Amino acid sequence: MLNAIERVLLTEEQIQSRVAELRNTLAAEYEGKNPILIGVLKGAIPFFRDITLKMPIPCNYDFVCASSYAAGTQSAGTVTLLKDTAMDLRGRHVVVLEDILDTGYTLDFLKAHLLQKEPASLKLCVLLDKPERRRVDIEADYVGFTIPNVFVVGYGLDYMEYYRNFPFVGVLKPEIYSK
Ligand code: XMP
Ligand code: MG
Repeated sequence: MLNAIERVLLTEEQIQSRVAELRNTLAAEYEGKNPILIGVLKGAIPFFRDITLKMPIPCNYDFVCASSYAAGTQSAGTVTLLKDTAMDLRGRHVVVLEDILDTGYTLDFLKAHLLQKEPASLKLCVLLDKPERRRVDIEADYVGFTIPNVFVVGYGLDYMEYYRNFPFVGVLKPEIYSK
């Protein structure tokens, strides 16, 4: 498994320390607002876990599942909602937690979809932002790390459903996906 990694981009320590900062930022911003934190399955699972664990303010959990990658490393551009929210978002403060903002197709789609449910507010919090690859006009409200245009795996991010279990974010060897 580990020999599929060309180099580590973000170590476990770097991720954990930045995630703690983001947790504190969210806690300060959403104090008294009882936000609903919505994780985007499956890639956001470790990020969602680490942001929410030790969150010092009351919050609710919910999850959606969206898919934009047919297979491989290129976004298909069309997003499918595989699982919708289970909670009533009307009048609530919502924060979407996602692993990465890349082309933007996924979060653009999810944002429009969730806004139809009339939340009081909706913000996007991503661990990684890859602005070079953006295809639609969308920005996240909270960003963990801005990264260059390289395909990364680990800490929830996958290639062909593998490598999500690494505690770090690493650059996948190009020969893995050019095979
Ligand atoms: P878009 O392009 O819609 O991408 O903003 C969001 C989704 O695409 C996946 N994605 C990646 N997965 N390494 C990955 O393992 C990457 O470098 C990468 N870039 C995008 C990811 O699932 C995200 O939810
Ligand atoms: Mg994802």
